[in-house]
Amino acid sequence: MATSFSDLIILLSSGINQRRLYFDAHPKVKSMGRDFAAKLDTRLRESNETAFFFGILNGKFIRDGRFLVGPSIAGRSLIEFAERLGCGGFLFQQHVTADEVAAFFRLASETREKTGSLDESMALMRSSGIRLIELTPHFRQAEAGQPTGQFDLASIDPSLIQFDFSEDEEDGEGGMGRSIQKDLAPLLPIFQSMYDTVAANQATVNRDQDLDYSRTQTVSEQLHVKADRETMDIMNLMRYPDYDSYTIGHSVRVSTLALTVGREMGWPEHMLGELATAGLLHDLGKAKVPDEILYKPGKLDAEERKLAESHADIGARLLLGRTDVSPLIVAGAWGHHIRHDGGGYPQMPAWAVHSPIAGLIQVCDVFEALTAARPYKNPMPPRRAFEIILKDRAAFHPNALVALVRAVGLYPPGSEVVLNDGSRGYVSSRGARWDSPLVRITRDKTGRHLEHDDQFLIDLNDNRKLEVADFLSVSIDPDGKPVASAVPDEDENAGKSMDDILSDATI
Ligand SMILES: [Fe+2]
Ligand SMILES: [Fe+2]
Repeated sequence: MATSFSDLIILLSSGINQRRLYFDAHPKVKSMGRDFAAKLDTRLRESNETAFFFGILNGKFIRDGRFLVGPSIAGRSLIEFAERLGCGGFLFQQHVTADEVAAFFRLASETREKTGSLDESMALMRSSGIRLIELTPHFRQAEAGQPTGQFDLASIDPSLIQFDFSEDEEDGEGGMGRSIQKDLAPLLPIFQSMYDTVAANQATVNRDQDLDYSRTQTVSEQLHVKADRETMDIMNLMRYPDYDSYTIGHSVRVSTLALTVGREMGWPEHMLGELATAGLLHDLGKAKVPDEILYKPGKLDAEERKLAESHADIGARLLLGRTDVSPLIVAGAWGHHIRHDGGGYPQMPAWAVHSPIAGLIQVCDVFEALTAARPYKNPMPPRRAFEIILKDRAAFHPNALVALVRAVGLYPPGSEVVLNDGSRGYVSSRGARWDSPLVRITRDKTGRHLEHDDQFLIDLNDNRKLEVADFLSVSIDPDGKPVASAVPDEDENAGKSMDDILSDATI
C-alpha cells in the first residue's frame, strides 16, 4: 500500500516524541529513522518526485492549499519544531539518510528555544549533519520559484479545515473516507479548538500558571450547541500516534462522550456544557505528574503508581483554588477513578457521597481508554470494550453504563462488518438502534465486489432478519483506510485479569 502523507507525518512526529523519551541509540528511535527514510524513498520513486514538501501555517499543516486537521493533530511536535525554527515548511530531498532523519529527531527534541533567524536555523541543521532536509520560509516571505511557490496562497481558506482522508482516489472498497469527510468537515474546527484548549491548559498548569477556564467553557459550549450523532463519528476517527497527543486527545474524547451520555441520560440542557467542561478538565492533574511516569512503557511500580494516581487529587485541588469553577467540575476531576462499588482512588471518606458526574466521567474514561487507537495499539471494538466493562459491572454506575451503550452503539461508523447473509460492507452511521447500524454494502452475498455506483445502504433496523455477524476491521483512519484488518485485542488481553486490563487502560 502506498505511503500516505499522514503516514510520513506520523512517523516524523513519533520519532521526535520517542527521542524525547529515550536516546539516539534506542531501537525505537533508530527504527523510526530508518522506517521514514525507506518509506520516503519508496514514495518518491513511485510518484517520480525528487522531494517531499509540506508547509505549516498558523499551527496547521498545509498541502496543496488545504489545511489538514487530522495530520495537524498527529504532527504537533513537528509543528512546534517548525515554530521554534521560524520556518514555514520542511523539504525532504530524495536520498535523505536514516542518520539525517535521526539527527532531525534529536534536534527537534533538544531545541527548546526559538532561533534568531531562518539562516541560524539552517546553520543549526547543517551543523547537526543534516544536508538533505531544507527549511522553507513562511508563506508570506516566500518568493516565486521557491518550493512554497507551488501553492496558490489566495486559495487557502482558513475556515476550510479538513481531515486528510485520502490521497488515493479509491480506497478499494468504495471511498468511505470521502463520504464521511463531507459530512463531518464542519465539526472538525470544534475538535481542533478542544484539542488546543486541553493542550494549552496542560502547558499553563505545568508552568504553574493559571489555566484559561473561560476558553475551556467557551469551547465546551460550542460542542454542546453543535454536538449530535455525527460528533461521535468524528470521535471514532481520532487517532493518537504518540503519547503526548493521546493524553490530550483522551480528554477531548472523554468530554464528547460525557456530553453524549449525559444527553442520553436526560441531564438538563443547561448542565450539558458543564459536563463537556468536566470531561476536558478531568485529567488536568496529569500536568503535574512527571513525564517519565506518565509515558513509561510497561508496568509502574508501587511508588510510581501512587504518583500517577495522585493526578485526581492534584487536578481537583488546582480547580478548587479558583472561584469560577463549579463544584461539579471539581468532583469530576477528583472522583473519576472511584468505582461505583467504592473501590478505586482517591479513597472516599466514609461520610462522602459519590458524585453522579464523577460516575459518568468514570465510565466514559474507561471506555475511551479501551477503544482509543494509541501508539502501537489497535483500537478495540466497542462490543469488546463493553464485554470487558460488563464483566466488572459493579465498578460502574448502572444508569451511566446503559446510557453509554445506547449512545455509542456497538458498531462505530467506519467499521467493516460481515452480515449474517454473507454480504460485507461499512457501517455508515449508528442507526436508530444501538445494535442496528446503517450499513453500506460493498460486497454481495457471493463475495462479489460492488462498484461504487452499485453499492447500497441497508438499515438493519428495517431489516430485522439481517444482523452483524462479524467485525472485519474496527474503524477507518484519517486517510480513509481501515485501521485494523482483523478484530484485535482478543489475544492482547488473553490471560490478563480484569484489574490488569482496566489499570493498563486507565490512569
Ligand atoms: Fe484520570
Ligand atoms: Fe482520564
